[in-house]
Amino acid sequence: MEPLPADQFPLMGHLCQLTQELSTTQDEDYLLDRILGQARSLLGAEAGSIFLARDGALQFTYVQNQKLFKGSNDLRGNSMPIDTSSLAGYAAYTGGPLVIADAHNIPEDKPYSFNRSYDDSTGYRTQAVLVQPLLSSQGTVIGVLQLINPLDEAGEVVPFSPENQGLAGFFANSAALALERAVNQRELILRMMRMAELRDPKETGAHVNRVGGYAAVIYEAWAKAHGVPPSEIVKQQDLIRVSAMLHDVGKVAISDAILKKPGKLDDDEYHTMKFHTVRGAQLFGEPSSEVDHLAQQIALRHHERWDGKGYPGHIEDLFHCSELGPGKISEEAPVAARITALADVYDALMSKRTYKDPWPEEKVLGIIKQERGAQFDPEVVDAFFKVYEEVDRVRGIYSEAAED
Ligand SMILES: [Fe+2]
Ligand SMILES: [Fe+2]
Repeated sequence: MEPLPADQFPLMGHLCQLTQELSTTQDEDYLLDRILGQARSLLGAEAGSIFLARDGALQFTYVQNQKLFKGSNDLRGNSMPIDTSSLAGYAAYTGGPLVIADAHNIPEDKPYSFNRSYDDSTGYRTQAVLVQPLLSSQGTVIGVLQLINPLDEAGEVVPFSPENQGLAGFFANSAALALERAVNQRELILRMMRMAELRDPKETGAHVNRVGGYAAVIYEAWAKAHGVPPSEIVKQQDLIRVSAMLHDVGKVAISDAILKKPGKLDDDEYHTMKFHTVRGAQLFGEPSSEVDHLAQQIALRHHERWDGKGYPGHIEDLFHCSELGPGKISEEAPVAARITALADVYDALMSKRTYKDPWPEEKVLGIIKQERGAQFDPEVVDAFFKVYEEVDRVRGIYSEAAED
């Protein structure tokens, strides 16, 4: 790669700060948003998108357009071939960057062409384009970063400069590594969840996605009310979403006879079932990362109750534990677990399960209010109602029907 020109040195500080932020971000969706947002602000680009290489094609994964909308993955699922029929496809095909002054006037003798479908469907006019492949640590193309229409101070579209291209190259390198890590982590977590889902058909992918989403939204409201600094909120929110998705992963260690029993569990079986909390926590061993630590806490404590009547309660040794202890009371359980507890119960009541139909929303919300300060942390309940619209939106995104 070309060295950065000397007049760009002040930008290096900014660039380092941006890449440092990316390296601490774990969640793929949030990372895509940050990468695109940062790349656009670095080069003053009005719009941009990120494509990820999946199943031999480029998948439209994330798009931002200042003129049309802020950020969206509505186009998720649309894919284009890795070939010369689009600029992004060409960059992925060759593994090299591309800078175009006017996408609608590409000379016929060029080996690539511009795919007009996005402009045609939105009415947007793509002019200057910079396409930068995102390369993994192994040098394979994992995606493409496409930046569109840099604006000058007067808001006029100008071409991307050679300096822009150098900067984009540097930025794309660290963005790709952060993305590779997040994608790997997400895949590992999805694999763990699929394993849990295979064992327990009640624990569907849609359920875990919703619980993760609710937990992130409730945490944000709770943290704002507690004066947590915004940058910390964003980071924790990201960790909580991923960790809450793994709340029931310990069910893999519960026998089929109990897990798949159609009727009600007897006392002994229920006692065994309660150990899915301990088993889940054991899976994370001696946690080495923040997400492991939080996932362990949530797996262990998501059935504790504010009034201390939950389980598994106080445990002396996580790895040699055959008895449940007296329940943890109020703040003895970590806040991420208190939040997940509410998110999990809300979702279970609102959803259809083999043994029950969904309950009416009014009844569910009534129960949550009634359990404020009993089963649930009162402040978590308050946070939940404060952002209930958002919670409801998450429920719509990850409905069972959408999953099918
Ligand atoms: Fe559970
Ligand atoms: Fe659950």
